[in-house]
Amino acid sequence: MLASELIERKRDGEELPAADLRAFLDGFQSGDIDDYQMSALLMAVYFRGLSTAELTALTRAMIESGRRLDLRRPGAPLAVDKHSTGGVGDKVSLVLAPLLAAAGLRVPMMSGRGLGHTGGTLDKLESIPGFRTDISLEAFTRIVDEAGCAMVGQSPDLTPLDGRLYALRDVTGTVPSIPLIASSIVSKKVAEGIEALVLDVTCGDGAFMREEEGALALARTLVELAGQEGLAATALVTGMEAPLGRAVGNALEVREAIECLHGHGPADLEEVTLALAAELPGVVREGEDRGGARGRLLALLRDGTAARRFAALIERQGGDPSVVEEPGRLPAAPVRVPWRAPASGWVHAVGAREVGLAAVELGAGRRRMGQAVDPAVGIELRIRPGDEVEEGIEGALVHARSESDARRAMDRLAGAVRIGPARPDPGSPALRWERQRVRYRVTPEGVEAIG
Ligand code: URA
Repeated sequence: MLASELIERKRDGEELPAADLRAFLDGFQSGDIDDYQMSALLMAVYFRGLSTAELTALTRAMIESGRRLDLRRPGAPLAVDKHSTGGVGDKVSLVLAPLLAAAGLRVPMMSGRGLGHTGGTLDKLESIPGFRTDISLEAFTRIVDEAGCAMVGQSPDLTPLDGRLYALRDVTGTVPSIPLIASSIVSKKVAEGIEALVLDVTCGDGAFMREEEGALALARTLVELAGQEGLAATALVTGMEAPLGRAVGNALEVREAIECLHGHGPADLEEVTLALAAELPGVVREGEDRGGARGRLLALLRDGTAARRFAALIERQGGDPSVVEEPGRLPAAPVRVPWRAPASGWVHAVGAREVGLAAVELGAGRRRMGQAVDPAVGIELRIRPGDEVEEGIEGALVHARSESDARRAMDRLAGAVRIGPARPDPGSPALRWERQRVRYRVTPEGVEAIG
C-alpha cells in the first residue's frame, strides 16, 4: 500500500491491517517514509485512535526497533520500575527508587527530561553536583545489582523508534493521545526487561489528562497493553490539580525529596510515594495488607535506610552523596523574592500548569529542545487549595537568577493562584484532589475507587 493511501485510510477512520501499519513503521525507520508522512499519520491517529490490533502492532514495532534487556535473575530480587505520565513538583521517583531498594527490590529506573510545563527526573538528578545520568547499559545494570537502584536516561539503544516518534509528536501537537502515550510508555518498559511496573497516571490541571474519564481510560489502556506484552502492571490515578509537595524546580525538588527520604516530607508526596510502592509485587508480605506494607515503608524512611540508599546511588553515579545529609550543598539561586497574596480570602486553586510555566520562565524547564536548564531556580509554595489567607502573606518564594526573571514568574503565579472571598466548594476538583491525592487503582481486574 502507498504511504499516502495508508494515511488517508486512517484519516477516514478505517482500521489498518497490522501488517500494513508495521510496513509503514519499518519504512519510517529505514528512511523510505519521511517525517512529514509520519507526522500526518500521527495526527490521523490522534483523531481516530487505534484498535487493539493496531496498538499491538505499533508497540511491538517500537520494542523491536532496538535492544531488549532481560533483568530477570533466578533467586535475585524482583526488578521493578515506576512511570508517571507527568506533573509539576512530581519528585516521587527520587524517593520511590531508593525506598524500594531499601525494601529489597531492584529498581532499574529509566526516566525522562522535563517537557513543556512538567518537570523531568533527569533534570532534577543532574542538579546534584557531579551526578551523571548518561551511563552505559552495562554500568547501569551493575549499579542496580550493587546499590539496588540506578536512575538513568532512556538509552538510545532501547526503543529508538519511540524516541523518533516522540520528537515528532512533541512538535506536531500529537502528544496527548491515549494510544500514542500508552505504546510509548509500555514499549520502553518492556524493553527495559523489568518484571513489574507501577504507573502513576496523573489527572488535573497540570497533567496530560485533565479529566478523570481520560485518566482512567489511559490507565486501563496502559495496564492492559503492559499485561498483553507480559509485564505485570498496576496504575494509580493521582491528582495533579495543584503541584505535588511545595517545591517546583530542580534542586528545590531534590531538597524536598531528601526531606521525604528522612521521613519529614510533605504529606501529599509521602502519600503518593507509599501508595505506589505498595502496589508492587514483593512489597506487601504474606499475611500483610497494603496498610501494613505502607507502615513498614514509612519506617524505612524514618530510620534513614532509604536515605542511605539514595546516597549510595548518588555516589555510584558520580554525584556528591553528602547532599543527602547536607542539602545546603545543592545549587542555590542568587535572587529570592516573596510572592504575596493579593487579597484576603480562601485559596480556591493553585493551578499546577501555570506554576509549572512560571518555573519554565525562571529557567527550570526548557523553551526549546536541547536547552540547558538552571538547576537552582524555582518556586516554593507556601499555600494550598483550601487555605484561608490574609492579604500580603507570603504565598510563595521565587528563587531566580535575576529580578526580571522573578517578575515574569510572579506574573504567572498571579494567574495560577485563585483567591476568593468565600470558602471553596469541597466538591471542586482542586479541593477533592487536595483531600485525597490517590483516588483510583486500575488493575487487569478493573477499576477500584480508593477511600
Ligand atoms: N511519557 C512517555 O514516555 N511517552 C509519552 O508519550 C508521554 C509521556
